[in-house]
Amino acid sequence: MSAVTKPLLATIGGERQERPPVWIMRQAGRYLPEYRAVREKAGSFLELCYTPALAAEVTLQPLRRFDLDAAILFSDILVIPDALGQRVRFEQGEGPRLEPMTPEGLGKLRPEALGSHLAPVLETLERVKADLAPDKTLLGFCGSPWTVATYMIGGQGSSDQAAARLFALRHPEAMARLFDILVEASAAYLVAQFRAGADAVQLFESWAANLDDAQFAAYVVAPNRRIVERVRGEIPGAPIIGFPRGVSGSRLAAYVEGTGVDVLGLDYAVPVREAQQSLPPQLPVQGNLDPLRLAAGGAQMEAQAEAIIDAFRTRPHIFNLGHGIVPETPIGHVERLVEIVKQGR
Ligand code: CP3
Repeated sequence: MSAVTKPLLATIGGERQERPPVWIMRQAGRYLPEYRAVREKAGSFLELCYTPALAAEVTLQPLRRFDLDAAILFSDILVIPDALGQRVRFEQGEGPRLEPMTPEGLGKLRPEALGSHLAPVLETLERVKADLAPDKTLLGFCGSPWTVATYMIGGQGSSDQAAARLFALRHPEAMARLFDILVEASAAYLVAQFRAGADAVQLFESWAANLDDAQFAAYVVAPNRRIVERVRGEIPGAPIIGFPRGVSGSRLAAYVEGTGVDVLGLDYAVPVREAQQSLPPQLPVQGNLDPLRLAAGGAQMEAQAEAIIDAFRTRPHIFNLGHGIVPETPIGHVERLVEIVKQGR
């Protein structure tokens, strides 16, 4: 047991705080000049992810500027396909590119290569842990299987995930095999992250919209539950945040109940008052300011931040954006946001 409490970790555990603890999705990133400098030095984005000294440095950068309650491992959800042997490239300004997966290509994936390929990422966590103040929570993460599969099958991001949805309908057995591989790899990776020093982890299900009921159950709820169970089989009580972006209404509670995550991450399109009323009263939630409100700043941002805090004041709440911070966000807006979350307006 550590003597110093970590307010964000305690909130994940169900303890409500007077003011919500705060972190920001993609808090290490291009809106910070010091990030851009290290990124330049590293060469490629994945090189940065696989160089522990540099990845640890950028993980800690946002905490030097802002009074944030957590550091999140600097890496990417696509290191899993990369580690399995489906190589990932990041084109400048274009996002990730992979050779699209076929049913035949599944046999070429190499789950046995995972451990050695991802060893540098675990070293990043060890380095950050050694430098992190004891009241700060260290977050690890991975992409959820459906979201990672949409990139593996489509070869890039898409707004409707048509390639992955068609693959699932045309090749259900291959899809089941791919999910088995991703569930195993993700669970092993998260267990290794806990052993390397992560206090809690987040499952990023960024493309959870666009699925019908049966697909939502099969490709979102079931595999995330398998990961949660496997991780907790090795790390009893492992604290886990689930972020099913694009999910709303009755599916939110179904996701929480079905997966067993401790905290529900809400995207910015989820109506806060409705979520407050419909979700189990003790359930910790995380979110959900629109990143563009932060980019624009000023009175509208402050009013919405306070409205979110006010709506969730009866339950454990971790303040965050409802998706990743955008590169054009002024640093002064982030300073002001963290200040009002901590102190009120
Ligand atoms: O939050 C953090 O600070 C930790 C680091 C982190 C990154 N990506 C760094 C990153 C995390 C948690 C992620 C998760 C991630 N990666 C997700 C899930 C969250 C979400 O946004 O929905 C997804 C879908 C990806 C895949 C990915 N990585 C895309 C689509 C892109 C390109 C889009 C873009 O913003 O350029 C990336 C690249 C990426 N991952 C960057 C960063 C800081 C920018 C690349 C750069 O610096 O050149």
